[in-house]
Amino acid sequence: MTPIKIIANWKMNGSHEDIISWIDYFQNNVEIKNQINCILCPPLCYLDTVKKIVLNNKLDLHLGSQDVYADLDHPSTGGVSGRMIKDLGCNYVLIGHSERRIHFQENEGILLGKINSAIKNKLNIIFCVGETFEQREGGITKKIIKKQLRILRGLPVGLISVAYEPVWSIGTGKIPSLESIEDVHQVIKSGLKDYFTNKKDIPVYYGGSVNLDNAEMIMKLDSVDGLLIGAASLDSSSFSGIVNKITAKK
Ligand code: PGA
Repeated sequence: MTPIKIIANWKMNGSHEDIISWIDYFQNNVEIKNQINCILCPPLCYLDTVKKIVLNNKLDLHLGSQDVYADLDHPSTGGVSGRMIKDLGCNYVLIGHSERRIHFQENEGILLGKINSAIKNKLNIIFCVGETFEQREGGITKKIIKKQLRILRGLPVGLISVAYEPVWSIGTGKIPSLESIEDVHQVIKSGLKDYFTNKKDIPVYYGGSVNLDNAEMIMKLDSVDGLLIGAASLDSSSFSGIVNKITAKK
């Protein structure tokens, strides 16, 4: 069975000191079992710090990057390539997060460049999709999600997973009904099967206001293979609590 993924997206938060105490708490309060993978996505500038702590303490934690740059054929000041991300010890990368689509104008062309860079460097892609509040109200959630997924057609199936993150749910404390999460996840899974010839089941994670109170019931849904957690992952005790609750049920 593919392990459940519990992913911490720290966004633009944290400091060297915070990271040391976060990991210290996690290490002393969580015993990770085989069926769960925890993936930390700190800011790029702290990837090396996290990597060193994880290696020195032989921790069962995986590393992910919140972003990657496309390989460009011109010099790129400030760019961080897929090769560099890999070199920093990451095996995962988030691509298509709505905050990047919206605030950094990441369109399909840009996303494809990032996807190609990730694939070339054998980084597992966590591709984020999700509808806005207006799109949900307008009844076009599934249409929007299918459109966002089209970019994945024909890519190497083993490196792809999807995170369903309704834009209106991120950081708001609101989540869709459980029926709606299950419904959209099923749409994603069946839609993706048409894109890949070997029909492998692509893991689909839920993200958007996941916390200690709702994580367990979301994870109980058949089509939820993991969680992508923002705000609640900043506090090591709530992230650890979520991991422990899910571990206890497995
Ligand atoms: P949130 O963020 O858990 O704070 O809603 C999730 C995300 O943006 O990945």
